[in-house]
Amino acid sequence: MNIVIFGPPGAGKGTQSNLIVKKFNLHQLSTGELLRKEIKDNTFLGQKISSIISKGNLVSDDIVGNLIEHHISNKIYKNRLIFDGYPRNLIQAEYLNSLLKKYDQKINVVLKLNVSLETIKKRILERKTLEKRSDDSEKIAIKRYETYENNIKPVINFYKQSNLLKVINGETTIAEINHEISGIIDRMKG
Ligand code: AP5
Ligand code: MG
Repeated sequence: MNIVIFGPPGAGKGTQSNLIVKKFNLHQLSTGELLRKEIKDNTFLGQKISSIISKGNLVSDDIVGNLIEHHISNKIYKNRLIFDGYPRNLIQAEYLNSLLKKYDQKINVVLKLNVSLETIKKRILERKTLEKRSDDSEKIAIKRYETYENNIKPVINFYKQSNLLKVINGETTIAEINHEISGIIDRMKG
């Protein structure tokens, strides 16, 4: 089973993916985390993308496309992927479909976490004290939210048309959201 989870910054994509991978033996593919690792390791790619991420903009479709192909093509992860934070625009959504087709796979369900800007600001400022993410100031959190809003509508329509979209209230507790997502996956497994 391959799952896409998306939503604005601080929606709980990473939190929920973490719980789901353990429960269902899946593999989390967070493009944000992969990109932050490149920056931390100070690779050529990391140097190139560092300022883009700090400003709350999207990294190029080619760069993230290469990162995800690396995982999709790996047989160990075949039909076990949860895409956290990919796709973020229509080009990426179409590219993901074509890549999965190339490796004889598909998306089984798309989870959209809905959270208000007020909640996002609160969560991100709380996280800022724990993790030192370069993009976790209030100003950049708002910018990331705007970037999300400006790109995501065609993605939502894309997955609505293919009947894969499940909308989830991301404002409740971590446990409640996990329970809802687990139920969706359990029902799909039959
Ligand atoms: P990315 O790392 O994906 O960041 P994001 O989308 O801004 O989302 P976050 O990771 O901040 O939030 P989350 O939804 O994972 O929430 P979390 O579970 O941590 O991307 C970073 C950057 O990389 C992008 O801005 C872009 O530059 C680049 N990038 C990434 N993917 C890309 C792509 N496909 N194309 C181009 N560029 C790309 O939760 C947040 C906090 O809230 C945590 O502290 C958590 O404990 C808490 N929390 C979670 N759920 C709850 C709850 N229900 N109740 C209370 N607290 C909660
Ligand atoms: Mg995350």
